[in-house]
Amino acid sequence: MSNKLFLLPGDGIGTEIMAEVTRLIAHLNASGKTDFSTETGLVGGCAYDAHGEAISDTDMAKALQADAVIFGAVGGAKWDDVPYEKRPEAGLLRLRKDLQLFANLRPAIVYPALADASSLKRELVEGLDILIVRELTGGVYFGEPKEIAELGTTEHGENQKRAVDTQVYETYEIDRICRVAFDLARTRSSVVHSADKKNVMKSGVLWDEVAHQVAGEYGDVKFEHILADNAAMQLVRNPKQFDVIVTDNLFGDILSDAAAMLTGSLGMLPSASLGAPDPATGKRKALYEPVHGSAPDIAGKGLANPIAMIASFAMAMRYSFNRTELADEIESAIAGVLEDGLRTGDIMQEGCKQVSTEEMGAAIMARIS
Ligand code: IPM
Ligand code: MG
Repeated sequence: MSNKLFLLPGDGIGTEIMAEVTRLIAHLNASGKTDFSTETGLVGGCAYDAHGEAISDTDMAKALQADAVIFGAVGGAKWDDVPYEKRPEAGLLRLRKDLQLFANLRPAIVYPALADASSLKRELVEGLDILIVRELTGGVYFGEPKEIAELGTTEHGENQKRAVDTQVYETYEIDRICRVAFDLARTRSSVVHSADKKNVMKSGVLWDEVAHQVAGEYGDVKFEHILADNAAMQLVRNPKQFDVIVTDNLFGDILSDAAAMLTGSLGMLPSASLGAPDPATGKRKALYEPVHGSAPDIAGKGLANPIAMIASFAMAMRYSFNRTELADEIESAIAGVLEDGLRTGDIMQEGCKQVSTEEMGAAIMARIS
């Protein structure tokens, strides 16, 4: 039986970068390496335009049925004024929540050919290989209450309002994300930093307590607590001290953008969002997406870098289909085209050849037998 991929290109450059993955899937299927069936749905602003929701129930059902969801990007100024619950990002958040994708893996790897494209000095980033493990279904993103209340006239004047977001974590949520981080650390350099703000937040105090408990079960993995603000500073001061960083939803969002930039461009960073293994089948629900957004300013111009999208597809091969050798092959194809001097505009360097989204996709595919 073929494996089902549900493709959600989304908005902006999402369509262009997904086109490169679609071509790659056709190539892999034709060569007999894979047997994927694909279906494509709408998410984000384009879904709102089509059905007035950031994702339809029909497409949600397809996402739940699929072996893996491959996601492009959502959002754009065009939808700035749509109601909050229907904004493009709501489609992505619903996918994460309904598929219970609590573990978001964001590797930041500096390809040797790109060490000079980083905003940091070559010696600080050369060989960098860190993994941010971000909690994805809890914390301030989903905590209730989440509202803006009208206060009317108060001692501070007329039309006062009060906005609330709620940062909330329960033990099991922290426990399961920490286990993912420690398990992955064992396959890497065996160091976990847990980042929180236990100096000001109760949720941070619990986070650290649970992280220490889990660490106690992984005596072979080195464990360090770090305050999240210090983690941000250390990421740009000396990023190679890190191996795996485990952190909550909001800090993970912020720290992963910083880590992304160390690699030269936001256009380089893939991610995997995983659920718990099904007790019967062992399979996890999963969604794979580039960390970058929909970049409406360059959409439709062939300028977008498809590498993060293609590398996200490689992560799907690794984490959903147990195809380590194929994931390795795709990742070395990416490293190879960069060695050859091909660059999209965002990572362009002197002496290199600037190529379009499609040319970059084709060059990567050509290296995959
Ligand atoms: C990310 C993005 C999303 C997030 C947005 C688009 C809702 O920034 O995946 O990092 O904040 O999680
Ligand atoms: Mg983000």
